[in-house]
Amino acid sequence: MTAEVINGKELAKDLREEMKQEVTALKDEGITPHLTVVLVGDNPASKSYVSGKKKACEETGISSEIITMPATASEEELLEVIDKLNADDAVHGILVQLPLPEQIDEDRVIEAITPAKDVDGFHPINIGRMMTGKDTFLPCTPYGIVRMLKSRNIQIEGKHVVVLGRSNIVGKPVGQLLLNENATVTYCHSRTPDLAAFTKDADILVVAIGKAHVIGAEHIKEGAVVIDVGVNRIEDGSLTGDVDFEAAKEKASYITPVPQGVGPMTITMLLENTIKSAKGVLQY
Ligand code: GUN
Repeated sequence: MTAEVINGKELAKDLREEMKQEVTALKDEGITPHLTVVLVGDNPASKSYVSGKKKACEETGISSEIITMPATASEEELLEVIDKLNADDAVHGILVQLPLPEQIDEDRVIEAITPAKDVDGFHPINIGRMMTGKDTFLPCTPYGIVRMLKSRNIQIEGKHVVVLGRSNIVGKPVGQLLLNENATVTYCHSRTPDLAAFTKDADILVVAIGKAHVIGAEHIKEGAVVIDVGVNRIEDGSLTGDVDFEAAKEKASYITPVPQGVGPMTITMLLENTIKSAKGVLQY
């Protein structure tokens, strides 16, 4: 079997076209959706992600600002910036780019952002709402993955989903969202012996390990759906996923590429959450 490629870039483009119209309608009502991104330090990958987010906002008509702080910034300084943004009615979304320098406690920072502006969906209140199946800001990468599956009418209910990775940003929440869609979910991680024994049973395999090409054809059941969340820079400078795409695509029914797979959908869901916040539909 040769897999159909789910191109996240194309899907993201379609969704962003629809969002542009929503943003125009909001502006006509006097509301300009606004996202503020806080970048602490000068991690090159973070800088690139943050500028990608700003560009996507601009293209969609969403107003955005990047606040940059030095790598030496203290936790108190960052918390002060967050307090100001929490109190600013013109700001609908606040995103503090992770990882943060080691002198800053990430959990304290995430919890300082008011849940009503937590467009990353990382605040424990929003995580709790997601776990209990309530309407909330869903974390962007997991939500983007669900939207990719739904865009191809891929059945989730009753399917065996195997998630590789258990990060708070991707692994844990993607399993939860797919459980909410009535999948049977298995989590595997760095301490799981014999990964292939689990992955070979997956109808939908979500790979978020962060190591180039660790998943090959031998891990995949014929006809499985393979979602590759990995973004790894290899020796020649190019970006590649956690999955050996060429090998996997001969066995899977659907597969996401890297780049142009999950990445553009993550940013698109951030735009959607920012618009949702501006609409004020969530109650806290
Ligand atoms: N770092 C890597 N991914 C993300 C993300 O989705 N949100 C934030 N805030 N930081 C990240």
